[in-house]
Amino acid sequence: MTLPPLPRVVRTAGELMAATAELLGGPPAQGREGERPSLGFVPTMGALHEGHVALVRAARRANQVVVVSIFVNPLQFGEPTDLQRYPRQLEQDLDLLAGCGADLVFAPSEHEMYPDGPPLVTLNSGALGNKFEGAARPGHFDGMLTVVAKLLHVGAPAADAGFRCYFGQKDAQQLALIRRMVRDLNFPADIVAVPTVRTGAGLALSSRNRFLTAEQQDAALVLSRALRLLDGRAQRHEPLDLDSAVALVTSARQVNLDYFEVVDPGTLEPLAVNCRETPFTGEALALIAARVGSVRLIDNAPLGY
Ligand code: PAF
Repeated sequence: MTLPPLPRVVRTAGELMAATAELLGGPPAQGREGERPSLGFVPTMGALHEGHVALVRAARRANQVVVVSIFVNPLQFGEPTDLQRYPRQLEQDLDLLAGCGADLVFAPSEHEMYPDGPPLVTLNSGALGNKFEGAARPGHFDGMLTVVAKLLHVGAPAADAGFRCYFGQKDAQQLALIRRMVRDLNFPADIVAVPTVRTGAGLALSSRNRFLTAEQQDAALVLSRALRLLDGRAQRHEPLDLDSAVALVTSARQVNLDYFEVVDPGTLEPLAVNCRETPFTGEALALIAARVGSVRLIDNAPLGY
């Protein structure tokens, strides 16, 4: 049995740029002759699971070179204990990536990313970043956007190559903010959203699921159940009757609902119509967050797509 090779690990921005230039200058990938070469970039914080694998596989299908970054970004953590307990497991991550086609892993140190300590100039996620997850985790999205901006700068290939960046639909508010940043600040990157990967029972994969007991994992299924209820109604063009879905979640044991809203997918503003009594038409996004035990979980469902 031959094991798939581990991706090459680079630690500095300079090494990353040199390695991607070399790979992009190589022979065209099979079946892609004549196409403009492109780089698929998957930013992560490690602790990889099948949700990340889906991002990497999507990048592999569409690009000549695939780079995964692994960096636990201190700027996007509020509580120091959350940052400390965030899993760091590079060896395991590399094993997982070996089978799914990543060419390079960019795993910089904190000093490489923030050589002068916490940056003086950061991005502000504005009104879109202050609600929902931003309200629960003040500063989180400013820190997230700041590191994504930096990663997109160091990960970008030379101008004659395409640049696609892959993010999970699971973190819907993060995705909306990154799309907005790329438009507002003219980043030369195409943002590709990859559907949420779930367990067979429906729980959205997350690196936080490891902190749930088996009983809590069962309890957490009510989140996806409630989203499925709304999705079914949207598909049948019925009123969404959000209140009944909220009641389903609030009646579940061990589950402490934070928010459950149906919003515009781009602005995350609550919908003026379509939500409760009128038949559903158009497109919307259902967002939910709850604490199960001490673990905060988020999930969402695009409606009407
Ligand atoms: O979704 C994540 O893992 C992180 O927020 C990201 C986008 C890699 C930025 O640190």
